[in-house]
Amino acid sequence: MPPPMHDRAVYLETFGCQMNELDSELVGGALRSLGYRFTADAQRAGVILYNTCSVREHAEQKVWSRLGELAERKREDPSLVVGVLGCLAERDGQALIRRLPVVDLLCGPGELDKLPHLLANAIQAREGLMADGVEVERAAATSARQVALQGSASRRSGTLAAAEDSLERLDLSRSFSPVDGAGRRFSAYVRITRGCNKFCAYCVVPFTRGAEVHRPPDHVVDECRRLADEGVVEITLLGQTVNHYRFEHGSAVTVNGLTQPQKGRSYRGGHRRDPYSGAGVTTFAGLLARIHDAAPSVERLRFVTSYPRDFGDDALEAVRDHPRICRYLHVPPQSGSDRVLAAMNRGYTASQYLEFIDRARHVLDQPERGRPLMLAGDFIVGFPGETEDDFEATAALLERVRFKNSFIFKYSPRPGTVAFDRLPDDVPDETKRRRNSALLDLQARISAQVSRAQVGATFPVLIEGPSPRHVKTTARREAVGLTVGGLVIDGPGPTPQRSDSVQLAGRTEGDLIVFVDVAPDAVAGLIGRIVPVSIRSCTALALHGEPAWG
Ligand code: SAH
Ligand code: SF4
Ligand code: F3S
Repeated sequence: MPPPMHDRAVYLETFGCQMNELDSELVGGALRSLGYRFTADAQRAGVILYNTCSVREHAEQKVWSRLGELAERKREDPSLVVGVLGCLAERDGQALIRRLPVVDLLCGPGELDKLPHLLANAIQAREGLMADGVEVERAAATSARQVALQGSASRRSGTLAAAEDSLERLDLSRSFSPVDGAGRRFSAYVRITRGCNKFCAYCVVPFTRGAEVHRPPDHVVDECRRLADEGVVEITLLGQTVNHYRFEHGSAVTVNGLTQPQKGRSYRGGHRRDPYSGAGVTTFAGLLARIHDAAPSVERLRFVTSYPRDFGDDALEAVRDHPRICRYLHVPPQSGSDRVLAAMNRGYTASQYLEFIDRARHVLDQPERGRPLMLAGDFIVGFPGETEDDFEATAALLERVRFKNSFIFKYSPRPGTVAFDRLPDDVPDETKRRRNSALLDLQARISAQVSRAQVGATFPVLIEGPSPRHVKTTARREAVGLTVGGLVIDGPGPTPQRSDSVQLAGRTEGDLIVFVDVAPDAVAGLIGRIVPVSIRSCTALALHGEPAWG
């Protein structure tokens, strides 16, 4: 593809989950390699791309209001190119353009490999309209739009059609740039599965991300190795049901010299160990072990999100037996009521969920060795038909499991899902709100107890950057190109001002947030490093510690 003929800076904003963050990184890299410049200032951009989420109505509303503002701006500057990427684009499709003609380009998450091509066309079309002196109103009405959507009817069929999965090329094209010093990236996502076949009754993801496919293990391992060479010390493997990963080498398909991702098999049986393991199959446990051994400089290997069903002992033991795999599981129960779980089509009961948690704790929870197992959960309150008793069962499960934190959502009916079509949204918003805040309060109490139990221990902590509080209260940049939670704060900033100490934020292997005060001149050398911290006090949300390094 020829380099862009224009000088437009691109503004790319990401909404939604880690999967979207990774997608934005990959498409950003692809566009950069074609000569596009990026800006963090939307006002100065000639191209605005939103990578969107559709999981709840609220997530969509944020994008709608941004697009509404852009419509204003485009009236003044008709040359502006606006693109909607991601799950909202896929879910709403052409209806989105009809509703908001400001949009020039739509690209679903399953078609992101086509984005450079779509964008080049969209820019050309817009510039053509400008050059022809087409009035703004007519320009807005033109159908010269760029659209790439899978369409829910054509959920990607994996390797069955033996067609090339071109999306795999996007992950493979990831740019690796080893850099030293302050701008170094130390944490990265790597996708192992795409899409989802679970069809939980409330969820849009199987429609927006398409059918579940599993990436070839060689591709994944190679990507991790290259990130390690780049200096990355923490890798988070991504998948909607990450623990269901499995690649059967015997049925691998190669197209144009490239091994193709493989269609996810239905995964039922409640087995304790992957029955398919053995020669010719890379199981989730096998993949973890391979990455762990292939990338020894990666000091932390995590994975999200785990599905509570069919999490084999082999995978738990792989975590236990490989010291650099984090003892952290994000394993959403969604509800503690069997009736609601069945209506949600989750495929497990509350007692099966608890059985899994007990099994995981038995294998992985070793607080006496400084390695407690930390759990995080997601819950939906106010699912259709949820009674007070159902809600109480959810609260009881939350209390019993003792998650270090939970993400708690009010049920949001999503068009196209089974729940939307068949189950009336009959829990009043008032009740949803009450249950939501009751569960949040309960979780806050438990989080505080979990935090308190860590006081007195010493943990290795991956230092991420100045604590948000520190950044806010000092309102200045303490050093050059520091990263906070993976985001680079533009450097170089003003010369650091003298202060007695700087508060840094980091995380334990169990994903507990830790704050630690250090001398200002020590800051730059600590970012992205794992150092021991003695925990002295805590709040519900974070631990406070002292340096325990020499
Ligand atoms: N694959 C992951 C979840 C991805 S979506 C899993 O199965 O655990 C992230 C979270 O959003 C879900 O865990 C669920 O709690 C929430 N969620 C999804 N759809 C929702 C809806 N329609 N209303 C409210 N919350 C929803
Ligand atoms: Fe959605 Fe269920 Fe798939 Fe998670 S497992 S992405 S909640 S359908
Ligand atoms: Fe949202 Fe799509 Fe992720 S709906 S949560 S961006 S998979």
